[in-house]
Amino acid sequence: MPLDIVVGSQWGDEGKGRIVDLLAAEADMVARYSGGDNAGHTLTVAGRIFRLHLVPSGILQPHVLCLLGNGMVINPARLLAEIEQLQALGILVSPDRLKLSSAAHIITPIHVALDSAEEAGRARGEIGTTRRGIGPAYADKAARRGLRAGDMRDPGAFGRQVQQQVQAGVDLPGSQPGLPAPHPVEAGRTYAAYAERLCPYLADVGEIVYRALEAGRTVLAEGAQGTLLDLDHGTYPYVTSSSPTAPGALLGLGIGPRHVRRILGVAKAFQTRVGSGPFPTELTGTEADRLRGSGENPWDEFGTTTGRPRRCGWLDAVLLRYAVRVNGLTELALTKLDVLSGIESPRLCTAYRAGRERFTDLPDTPAYLADFTAVYEDLPGWADNLAAARAWTDLPPAARRYVERVEALAGCPVSMISVGPQREQVVPRESGR
Ligand code: IMP
Repeated sequence: MPLDIVVGSQWGDEGKGRIVDLLAAEADMVARYSGGDNAGHTLTVAGRIFRLHLVPSGILQPHVLCLLGNGMVINPARLLAEIEQLQALGILVSPDRLKLSSAAHIITPIHVALDSAEEAGRARGEIGTTRRGIGPAYADKAARRGLRAGDMRDPGAFGRQVQQQVQAGVDLPGSQPGLPAPHPVEAGRTYAAYAERLCPYLADVGEIVYRALEAGRTVLAEGAQGTLLDLDHGTYPYVTSSSPTAPGALLGLGIGPRHVRRILGVAKAFQTRVGSGPFPTELTGTEADRLRGSGENPWDEFGTTTGRPRRCGWLDAVLLRYAVRVNGLTELALTKLDVLSGIESPRLCTAYRAGRERFTDLPDTPAYLADFTAVYEDLPGWADNLAAARAWTDLPPAARRYVERVEALAGCPVSMISVGPQREQVVPRESGR
């Protein structure tokens, strides 16, 4: 009856999608539990590139049932576009393979408009959101005036609710200066049509997950974003508006902790972030460019959702240890180790300094990271191309040493290492224990 949870251990974009795609081969269901189309997964399967924002990466495994949990916020236009794309490719042939929780919340055009308007008006400067309406939709949920997916069961009434919500937003004094306001009547009509099309996908996802677990099936909870973007536990206010950490999987799917087996944190062998906020190990100039890549490849460090170049830096083991704690990680998957090949001396952040004080653990929550300077350990580099490595012993000694040092500093075993974008470019660490 296992529930395995895959979470991002950094600021998102760790490569969770490819790890979920791999683990989904052994799972019966894959369920997304938080966020919305702010997420983006790039998967490379048999030389084809797939970009998904809402539908779990497990959809590429034909036997897997995919679920969108109650903790998510759904833009129906985006979901329908993804469904159409998957139908055209013959990957999704019936609504039986994809279910949307009736308790998930709906993103409407006013949320998208407000996201941009709020960004422009923030006293502390922009958060750098994806402008997909995520924050305003979660704000409406918390204020108990949101629209839920289950409301789509009556498309006519749902369309009227959307119209009213958009009208209320447009009427807000001073709302969206300089931005095109969504049209309430048009939004209502469009959303009623979306509702007709999405009704066959609605279900009680918590019940489906519970029944499956009780029957001994394996369910994989697929995280989006990352630990440091968590509304409570991340670098507030430079965070998203949901709970991407492992406990969020339980809340966002409507299931208790009893069934949890593995909690796998995905971490890049270096570190990236999009949007604003503190980043103690951030690099600039040619060093950052080296980690980012040129943008020619889909796996280079440019946002899947917004195309923005990602900020890049060295792996921060202090934050990784924090991710192990907050998520209760049982193991780590280290991605993109191949990108460090050719770097003379890759660095790991092992502590922080503030004035004369030195900290090996976070002295306070990550919201106050800006006050600290990274302290580094320099490791020997390796020149070898890792693309063909499939076993621990295929990795050069310096790369193995890097992984072992990450394990020791994070206080968590690394169970797999990715060395390229293809499905098979993964080294199981067990092979070296
Ligand atoms: P929002 O989720 O669009 O409100 O954006 C809030 C912050 O989270 C911004 O810094 C975004 O860049 C960041 N963010 C949201 N989703 C992702 C993601 O999937 N990967 C990386 N960063 C993300």
